[in-house]
Amino acid sequence: LVETAVKEFGTLDVMINNAGVENPVPSHELSLENWNQVINTNLTGAFLGSREAIKYFVENDIKGNVINMSSVHEMIPWPLFVHYAASKGGMKLMTETLALEYAPKGIRVNNIGPGAIDTPINAEKFADPEQRADVESMIPMGYIGNPEEIASVAAFLASSQASYVTGITLFADGGMTKYPSFQA
Ligand code: BGC
Repeated sequence: LVETAVKEFGTLDVMINNAGVENPVPSHELSLENWNQVINTNLTGAFLGSREAIKYFVENDIKGNVINMSSVHEMIPWPLFVHYAASKGGMKLMTETLALEYAPKGIRVNNIGPGAIDTPINAEKFADPEQRADVESMIPMGYIGNPEEIASVAAFLASSQASYVTGITLFADGGMTKYPSFQA
């Protein structure tokens, strides 16, 4: 991926690790194969993408940045999704560690923590009006986010507007991480 990007565009400035998978399974029935599949895609995948981008930045003296697509579930536990929540929790400290390690070189590493967003990862769930309403009730702003509302956060973090921002998770979740059950 890095090689292709450099060949196509001449250099690399930003890497966004966006691949993710999830599936609900009671934890006591979760197979090792399923656990590995989710951890490998969500956490190991983001690590390998980060490693390759950072290697290119270091070797070419580029003050680039990495953005990892985490989730509100890097802080909210999620029954039936232990593999997913573990992958996102891991992503939090992976990003913080990489940010600390490469800050002296001017390389920034950040997470985005989306809440519930209308994307293929949960298309099936959100097509069911009951499940959709259930999720909406957990969002103080009252609606499921659009992909554009995450893309704009990525554009900010990637840009020089965020030149002093590293090692954070920027939550874009309509307030989901703010204990919505206290709203009433
Ligand atoms: C998951 C969605 C879920 C949302 C809020 C995201 O990380 O991909 O399926 O609706 O978190 O729970």
